Amino acid sequence: MTLEEVVRIRRATRAFRPDPVPGETVEALLDLARMAPSGGNLQPWTVVALTGAPLRGLIDRVGERRAGGGRDAPDHPIYPTGLWEPLRGRRRAAGAQRYAALGLARGPESQALLEDMNLRFFDAPVGLFFLADWRCGPLQWSDLGMFMQTVMLAATARGLATCPQAVWAGWGRTVADHLGLDPDLALLAGMALGVPDEGAPLNALSPGREEVRNFTKILGFSDR
Ligand SMILES: Cc1cc2nc3c(=O)[nH]c(=O)nc-3n(C[C@H](O)[C@H](O)[C@H](O)COP(=O)(O)O)c2cc1C
Repeated sequence: MTLEEVVRIRRATRAFRPDPVPGETVEALLDLARMAPSGGNLQPWTVVALTGAPLRGLIDRVGERRAGGGRDAPDHPIYPTGLWEPLRGRRRAAGAQRYAALGLARGPESQALLEDMNLRFFDAPVGLFFLADWRCGPLQWSDLGMFMQTVMLAATARGLATCPQAVWAGWGRTVADHLGLDPDLALLAGMALGVPDEGAPLNALSPGREEVRNFTKILGFSDR
C-alpha cells in the first residue's frame, strides 16, 4: 500500500474481531511512531499499551466506578464550551451516523451505550493510552497528535485498525490510579487497536471532509 492509500483507507474503527495483536506488533507500531516530529524534539509522549488481564482489569475498574455514579474531573475538555458552527454541525453529523449504524435515535440512552462501548475499547484486544506532563502546552499536545496519527497509519498499513478516543480523558485519574501512573502525567486520549470487523455497520461510516478550497487560501500559484 502506498502512503496515500493508507491515509485514505484509515478509519475510526468501532468494532473489532477478537484476534489478539502480538506485543511485537504493538512495539513495531510505536517504533515507527517515535519517528514523529516534535517541537524542539521534546518527544513529550508517554504511552501505555494493555491487552489481556491488565486491559480487562482496567475496563472493569472504570465500569465499577461508572456504575457507582463516580466520574473523574476530565484531564482536559474534550470540546470547547459552546461549540460553534460549522464545527458543531460536523460533530452532530458524525454522531448521527454512529447512532444510525446502531439503529438508535440520538438521546441519553444511545449516548450512554456509545460511552459504554468506548470505555470497553470497542472490545478491541489492545488499548493504548497517550499521556504527557501536565505542564505541556498546545504544541506538545499537537506532538502527541502526530504520534497518534503515525500509530494509526502504521496499524492501517499492517491490516489493523484503530479508534482514537478522547473519551478516556474523562477517566484519566481512574486510569492513572489503577495503572500506578505518574500523577504528573495528563491523559490526552486512548486508542483501540485490533483487527477490524469488516462486516460491522459501525465500521461502514463515511464521515465527510470539507473540500480544500473551503479551508484554504491559495496565493501565488500560477496553475490555481
Ligand atoms: C483526538 C481524537 C479523539 C477522538 N475521540 C473519539 C472518541 O472518544 N470516541 C470515538 O468513537 N471516536 C473518537 N474519535 C474519532 C472521530 O470521531 C473520527 O476520527 C472522525 O469522526 C472522522 O472519522 P474517521 O476517523 O473514520 O475518518 C476521535 C478522533 C480524534 C482525532
